[in-house]
Amino acid sequence: MIDRKVRNIEQIISPKSGDFLQMENQLRPRYLNEYIGQDIVKNNLKVAIQAAKKRNEPLDHVLLHGSPGLGKTTLAYIIANETGVSIKVTSGPALEKPGDVAAIISNLKENDILFIDEIHRLKPVVEEVLYTAMEDFGIDIVIGKGPSARSMRINLPKFTLIGATTKLSSISSPLRSRFGNVFKIQFYTDSDIEEIILRSARILNSEISKDVAHLLSKSCRQTPRIANRLLKRVRDYADVHNDSKIETKNVREALTSIGIDEIGLDSMDKEILAVIIEKFNGGPVGLNTLSAAISEEQDTIEDVYEPFLIQLGFLERTQRGRVATQKAYNHLKTVKDS
Ligand code: ADE
Repeated sequence: MIDRKVRNIEQIISPKSGDFLQMENQLRPRYLNEYIGQDIVKNNLKVAIQAAKKRNEPLDHVLLHGSPGLGKTTLAYIIANETGVSIKVTSGPALEKPGDVAAIISNLKENDILFIDEIHRLKPVVEEVLYTAMEDFGIDIVIGKGPSARSMRINLPKFTLIGATTKLSSISSPLRSRFGNVFKIQFYTDSDIEEIILRSARILNSEISKDVAHLLSKSCRQTPRIANRLLKRVRDYADVHNDSKIETKNVREALTSIGIDEIGLDSMDKEILAVIIEKFNGGPVGLNTLSAAISEEQDTIEDVYEPFLIQLGFLERTQRGRVATQKAYNHLKTVKDS
C-alpha cells in the first residue's frame, strides 16, 4: 500500500542532479572515451547503450557494485550523457516511503534515468514498489480502507534504474534479478591510475612527469577518487615550495604528512593489521571483536578498509574470522624497521 503523504521531491532527489557540469567536479570524465580503465564494463555498456538508442527504448536497468571511490556514480552520469537523457539522483536511505518512489519516477520523462546510490540500504516496503516499477513501469496503490478498499495502478514513464552498491551480498535476490546489466567495478591497475593522474593534472594545469605520476600511483589504493585527492594535496606542496612542476620530493613530503605509506596504507589500515597480529596472534578474529578493539564501525571496516587489504593479499576473510597473512607481517615489519 502506498503512503500518499508524499514529500516534496526536492527532499528526495539530490539537489545536485540536473546540471552535470555544475554539480560534478571538473575531474570527472563525462563520456566513455574519457573514462580510463574498466574495459569490460565500458564495452558492455557501449553495446547496451547503442542497442537501446537504436530501438528508442530505455536502457535495461543497471546495477553497479564495487568498493567506494571506484567511479560508480561517475559511470551513471556517463550513461546518461551517452544516452542523451536526464538523470535524477537519490540514495537508498533518502527514499523513506513507497510514495517517494512514485513521486520521483512520475516526474521522469520517457527513457530517463533514476540513480539510487547505496541501493542496499532501501527499506523493504520501498524495495517492494520498485519491483513493479522496474518490471511493468507501474505502481499499485490501495485507495480506501477495509472492505471498500480498491487497488489502482499508476502508470509510470519507461525509465532506467541505475543502482550502486558497495555490498552486493546485501541486495535481495528479487531486486538483483530485475537488473538486466550487473557490473562489478574492479580496483584499477597502477598504470590506469597513473593515466588518471596525468589526465587530472592536465585539467588542473599542473605539470607532472610520467615518472612522478607513476610514483604517486603506487599510493592511491588503486582508486581514482584517492588518486585525485592525493594529486591535489601533492600539488599544494609543489605550489607552497614554488616548484613549477610536481616533483618526487613533493609526493614524498605530502604522503608522509598525510600518513600514507608507499603502497597506499593509512594509519587505520595499519592499525587493523597490527591489532590482528599483536592482540589476536594473527587471527582468526571476528569482525565484531575487531570493531571493538579499534573503535571503528563494522560496516566501515568491511566496506572501506578490508576490500583493499584483501586485494593486496594482506588479509583473509575466513569462516572463523579475519586472518592477517605473511605478506601483512612482512609489510608491517618493514614499516616498523624503517
Ligand atoms: N576520474 C575518476 N575516475 C576516472 C576514470 N575512471 N577515468 C578517468 N578519470 C577519472
